[in-house]
Amino acid sequence: MTINIALTKGRTEKMVLPLLKRAGMNIEPILNKGRRLIFNDDPNYHVILAKGPDVLTYLNGGAMDVGIVGSDILVEQRNPQYDMLDLNTGRCHFVLASTKDFDPGLARRKIIATKYPQITQDYFNTIGEDVEIIKIEGSVELAPLVGLADAIVDIVETGDTLRENHLQVYAELMPVSTHLVVNKLALKQKQGEIKQLLLQLQQAMQEAAL
Ligand code: PRP
Repeated sequence: MTINIALTKGRTEKMVLPLLKRAGMNIEPILNKGRRLIFNDDPNYHVILAKGPDVLTYLNGGAMDVGIVGSDILVEQRNPQYDMLDLNTGRCHFVLASTKDFDPGLARRKIIATKYPQITQDYFNTIGEDVEIIKIEGSVELAPLVGLADAIVDIVETGDTLRENHLQVYAELMPVSTHLVVNKLALKQKQGEIKQLLLQLQQAMQEAAL
């Protein structure tokens, strides 16, 4: 049976494709995709490219069997699907960041901008601080620079975005990496095929580490 895979497009896609190749998948059509979104050239694997939060929507709706997505999205969406494998790529982490003059001990209720309101709320709950959270869709770094927020909670990979915008880290939150998640029903119906895929990916990860 064909395994339907929803792959997060963009950075995750770039980092995971070499691993999928090593695991035996033909990734050429995806590398030369143009504006194509569905890749059904291989009878064993059909792949779609979707935005991270949508990957889980396709899985939850039963349209896809397997999702390849960042753990940031899994945690933010409180994902009910099966998290089967940490692919050990796309490693980055969450931080609290702001401008150099930010005072973490600010007496008033802070305003925090983020693409991840749930993760931000969890963090401030943990440290026992009540904050106002503003949801931003992208380029969150802008918010403290233009006075919309006191600080941000966001993902840092290379640190370039923070550096080039003169922002600094005030706290390190949790790490993030790319995970493989499986729809519950698919795990029952395509158990053999999914186990085989997991095995191939684990072998590919071991080879890559050598
Ligand atoms: C992510 C993140 C940071 C940036 C960090 O954004 O939200 O803005 O990458 O990467 P760096 O540490 O390597 O500079 P993304 O590029 O996904 O764009 P977006 O903010 O528009 O979602």
